[in-house]
Amino acid sequence: MMPDIEHPWEIIYQQDKWPQQDPVPLFHEVVPTLQSRNCQRILDLGCGNGNYLVPFAEKGFDMIGADISPTGLNISRRRLASATMPVSLVQCDFRLPLPFRKSSFDGIWSVQSIHHARIDAIRLVIQELWRVLIPNGFMIVSVAGGLDDEYPYKEIEPGTYVPLEGPERGLPHHIFTEDEVRKEFKMFAIEAVYSRLNGKILVILASKR
Ligand SMILES: C[S@@+](CC[C@H](N)C(=O)[O-])C[C@H]1O[C@@H](n2cnc3c(N)ncnc32)[C@H](O)[C@@H]1O
Repeated sequence: MMPDIEHPWEIIYQQDKWPQQDPVPLFHEVVPTLQSRNCQRILDLGCGNGNYLVPFAEKGFDMIGADISPTGLNISRRRLASATMPVSLVQCDFRLPLPFRKSSFDGIWSVQSIHHARIDAIRLVIQELWRVLIPNGFMIVSVAGGLDDEYPYKEIEPGTYVPLEGPERGLPHHIFTEDEVRKEFKMFAIEAVYSRLNGKILVILASKR
């Protein structure tokens, strides 16, 4: 597909406004689980500027990073110059079917990304995560469980808000409750759901039954 240069995250990466650079503690927590379950080929959906691609590759995983932002992917590409393990990068919009075959991945890592859409689109992503994961594959997904207080928001459908100001202005953010996570991800065997940052982030650990 053509680069979606109007997407707010493309502008955020062009203006170097995403402060996150280092892996969050969740990364260190899940690596042993992925290793113990023999997950080798991992999709990082919403890989952005590649914060996790090099760290996963350095742990020996075969990584595929996918994101809508060409600039984010270019930054990833530069950072990956040091990686010794194979890493592929794919531009895609997760509001559309993912450009991967059924059962392409042993594991999926997707942090703070898939809630950037309306709930119907997120339901499609969840189905697609199911499709591209192998049976018994393991998945780590985090979504928003609360809004930042920094900007005013407008609710555009139940539980979905658009910031009226700031770099993500106009971009839908679906805010999940734990019950909703359990309902929407019910096709997976949910192994844990827990909150981080006072509930601002919900982490889902799940496997494909
Ligand atoms: C908060 S950032 C998280 C980036 C990265 N996972 C990290 O933790 O450093 C959200 C990411 O989701 C990506 N994203 C948002 N909407 C997307 C879409 N429709 N399709 C693909 N990627 C999308 C953005 O480009 C951005 O890289």
